[in-house]
Amino acid sequence: MMKALFTLSILPLSVLSAWAPPGPDGKYTLTAPGITAKFIPYAACITNLLVADRNGTLRDVILGYDNATFYPVDPNHSDYGAVPGRYTNRIANHTYVINGTRYYTEANDGNGTLHSGLNGWSHRVWNVSDVTATSITFTIRDESNSSLGMPGLVLGTVTHSVSNNTWSTKLSAVAVDHDTPLMLTTHPYWNLDAFSNPKTDLIFNHTLSLPFSKRMLGIDPATECTGAIPEVPAGSINDFWSKPKQLGASINDPAWVGNCGTGSGCSGYNNQWVVDRNASEMALPVATLSSAYTGIKWDLYTDQPGVVVYSCFWMGGELCLSCATL
Ligand SMILES: *[C@@H]1O[C@H](CO)[C@@H](O)[C@H](O)[C@H]1NC(C)=O
Ligand SMILES: *[C@@H]1O[C@H](CO)[C@@H](O)[C@H](O)[C@H]1NC(C)=O
Ligand SMILES: *[C@@H]1O[C@H](CO)[C@@H](O)[C@H](O)[C@H]1NC(C)=O
Ligand SMILES: *[C@@H]1O[C@H](CO)[C@@H](O)[C@H](O)[C@H]1NC(C)=O
Ligand SMILES: *[C@@H]1O[C@H](CO)[C@@H](O)[C@H](O)[C@H]1NC(C)=O
Ligand SMILES: *[C@@H]1O[C@H](CO)[C@@H](O)[C@H](O)[C@H]1NC(C)=O
Ligand SMILES: *[C@@H]1O[C@H](CO)[C@@H](O)[C@H](O)[C@H]1NC(C)=O
Ligand SMILES: *[C@@H]1O[C@H](CO)[C@@H](O)[C@H](O)[C@H]1NC(C)=O
Ligand SMILES: *[C@@H]1O[C@H](CO)[C@@H](O)[C@H](O)[C@H]1NC(C)=O
Ligand SMILES: *[C@@H]1O[C@H](CO)[C@@H](O)[C@H](O)[C@H]1NC(C)=O
Ligand SMILES: *[C@@H]1O[C@H](CO)[C@@H](O)[C@H](O)[C@H]1NC(C)=O
Repeated sequence: MMKALFTLSILPLSVLSAWAPPGPDGKYTLTAPGITAKFIPYAACITNLLVADRNGTLRDVILGYDNATFYPVDPNHSDYGAVPGRYTNRIANHTYVINGTRYYTEANDGNGTLHSGLNGWSHRVWNVSDVTATSITFTIRDESNSSLGMPGLVLGTVTHSVSNNTWSTKLSAVAVDHDTPLMLTTHPYWNLDAFSNPKTDLIFNHTLSLPFSKRMLGIDPATECTGAIPEVPAGSINDFWSKPKQLGASINDPAWVGNCGTGSGCSGYNNQWVVDRNASEMALPVATLSSAYTGIKWDLYTDQPGVVVYSCFWMGGELCLSCATL
């Protein structure tokens, strides 16, 4: 877990404006030049993201179910496209201390807590408070203790929007009456080939760049943060800063197995890199992912100080042989 707690500022409540209902498939569709994106209130999810490949063929590059009503009953619940909360990612040993008080959270990931437990924000149906042709705003009222060990009322707001070739997300949460852990992210799984590459359904030939990430968060065998922030040596398995590299470039490196947790044998990537930037670099992308096959590439812009890359070691099966989340 990140040791620092931080509260994102709340947006003013938006005034209800033009209302567009979801389609017959239960999804809200936003469109702008070069991009179409679909969303559902469950987990404030993005379910589809359609962009053109090098031939002009539309490709859906984000994993999601066609059937919107399957999300809440998916037994694997892999948080496809979700917004986990109120505290995303891991809390070691399902416990933390704020201001001298120790709290115990739900152990849903070995002895740790992942994404706030099984009633976290990615397990809830959010309210839709505003929809236009290019944006949708979801809100959540998260009562005190509705996740074990998470005290105090929190009001969360997620606005997804599209513009020229761009998907943007604004995440905010305010702790109303009690100090509490807050950390939010989006959780999309990508396949920039959209399973159309006859040579592979895997993402290991995608090329990743993390130009500002020469440090990462140290982890213990259970993938929990230790508090150490080691340097990433150039040429090492976790080096995506010295130059862009294919996600599978280090697959034969002995360090591949266990790189994201030796206890479980987690192989490949499920790690957090620190983004170290000065003020003049804030407008530059912190990550770039591309596929030579489709020619599809994205740049990730954020004001946040870290990025998680997950290459989905645990996901076997036809649904997710080949995905990565950032
Ligand atoms: C969608 O998923 C729900 C929940 O599993 C199921 O009841 C329904 O039959 C599914 N619909 C289709 C068209 O697959
Ligand atoms: C979890 O608890 C065990 C046993 O008390 C301890 O050895 C370990 O350091 C703790 N893990 C973290 C990340 O604090
Ligand atoms: C699990 O976490 C609890 C604290 O919440 C700790 O007392 C216990 O030692 C931990 N167990 C292991 C195996 O780390
Ligand atoms: C910590 O607790 C003390 C005593 O209860 C209180 O005065 C203080 O405001 C608290 N600090 C924070 C940051 O909540
Ligand atoms: C949605 O809004 C209703 C009415 O204000 C409220 O009772 C409910 O708690 C809200 N649901 C969520 C997930 O915030
Ligand atoms: C939250 O639960 C704790 C026990 O886990 C209890 O002491 C506290 O009063 C509860 N707070 C609220 C606001 O329900
Ligand atoms: C849309 O984005 C493309 C690059 O992706 C750029 O060339 C073009 O000028 C942009 N159009 C508008 C209207 O902003
Ligand atoms: C992936 O890239 C490697 C190195 O460039 C190449 O040897 C291999 O053939 C590629 N695999 C596929 C399935 O495209
Ligand atoms: C920011 O860092 C870059 C690369 O290290 C450097 O070239 C640039 O001068 C720095 N800008 C400021 C304002 O410090
Ligand atoms: C683009 O079209 C060329 C020529 O038809 C074809 O060989 C190639 O596989 C297509 N690429 C994609 C990503 O569909
Ligand atoms: C759930 O996970 C198992 C094991 O990885 C996989 O075989 C199955 O296809 C997955 N089912 C769904 C609905 O994701």
